Amino acid sequence: MQTITAVAHPNLAFVKYWGKVDHNLNIPTNGSISMNLSGATTTTTVTFDADLEADRITINSITAEHPRVAAHLDRVRQLAGIETRALVISDNNFPASAGIASSASAFAALSLAASRAAGLNLNDKALSILARSGSGSACRSIPDGFAEWLPGRDHESSYAQQLAPPDHWDLRVISAIVETGAKEVASSQGHRAVQTSNFFPARLSVLAQTLDTVRTALLARDFPAFGATVEAEALAMHAIALTSQVEEKIGILYWGPSTLILIRAIQQWRANGLPVYYTIDAGPNVHLICEAKYQTGVERALAPLLAGLGGRYFVSRPAPGARVVKPT
Ligand code: DP6
Repeated sequence: MQTITAVAHPNLAFVKYWGKVDHNLNIPTNGSISMNLSGATTTTTVTFDADLEADRITINSITAEHPRVAAHLDRVRQLAGIETRALVISDNNFPASAGIASSASAFAALSLAASRAAGLNLNDKALSILARSGSGSACRSIPDGFAEWLPGRDHESSYAQQLAPPDHWDLRVISAIVETGAKEVASSQGHRAVQTSNFFPARLSVLAQTLDTVRTALLARDFPAFGATVEAEALAMHAIALTSQVEEKIGILYWGPSTLILIRAIQQWRANGLPVYYTIDAGPNVHLICEAKYQTGVERALAPLLAGLGGRYFVSRPAPGARVVKPT
C-alpha cells in the first residue's frame, strides 16, 4: 500500500460550533461558518503496513498511545474494508504551546492521508464527514477557503461545504497568543455543558439569523456588518460558557486578564477609526480580524501591547483545504 502525505490548516469559526446533539458522531446543535488559517499547518504521513502488529503514531516527534487517532484509523479501515495497522507521523508547524487548537487540522490531514493510503478516493463531502467524526470542527478544514458546516441530523447529512474560495476576500486574521497552557475545560466538556446554561435556548433562537447575516456579509464582502456580527457571536458563545456548569464548577471562563486587555484595546482602536474586530475560541487567545489594507495598522497597534503582555502573534490569510502533497 502507498505512503501518502497530506496537509491541512486549522480553521477559525466566525459562527461557532458550541453544543452537540450527538456526542459520539459530533453532530452539532447548530451550523457554523469558518475560514482556514494559512499561518498554521499540520502535515501528516500515513502508511498501512501489513508487518505492523499495532498502529504506531508519532505526533510532533513523540511516539505514544493516541486513542482518538487510533479510533479514527479504525473508521478508515472500516470504510476501506481492511484490517492492516498503520504508521502515522504528524507534525504541526506551530508549537503545541501556541495555544491554537490543532484537532481541526490534525483530523482533516489524517482523514485525507489515511483514506488515500487505504486506497480510498473520497470526495470532499465524504472526507468532511470522516473528519467530523474525529473532531467536529475538522470537517470545516476540508474545503478550500471559507466553509459552512451544515449541521444535518445524522452521520451522512452533517458536513462542511465551501462558501467561498480563498481569493474571494483578502481577510487577515492576526492571532494574538497570550497564554499557552492547556485550557482548564476541554472543548468536548464545554460542548456537553451547554445543556446546563439557561441562555442556550436564547442562543439557538437567534442562530439562523446570525448565520444568514455572516454568510451574506461574507459573500458581499461587507466588512462592518461581518465584523460586528462575528464579534457579537463570539461573545454569545462565551455567554453560554459563562452560564454553564461542569461538575461542581460554576461557569466556564476561558478568558484571562490579557484577553480583557486586548478586547478593550480593540474597542478603543475601532473607536479611533481602525476597522478591526475580534473573535475568541475556547481559550484566552484573541483573533483579530481585518481587511488586508489595515493589516499593518493593526500590527502596529497590537505589537507593543502584546510585547508588554508577554504574548506574540501570527498572521493568516484564507487558506486552501486539506490536500495531498506527496506523492505529487
Ligand atoms: C470553540 O471541534 O474541538 O473552537 O468535536 O469535541 O472535537 P470536538 O470539538 P471541537 O470544538 C471546537 C469549538 C470551538 C468553536 C468552533 O471551532 O466552531
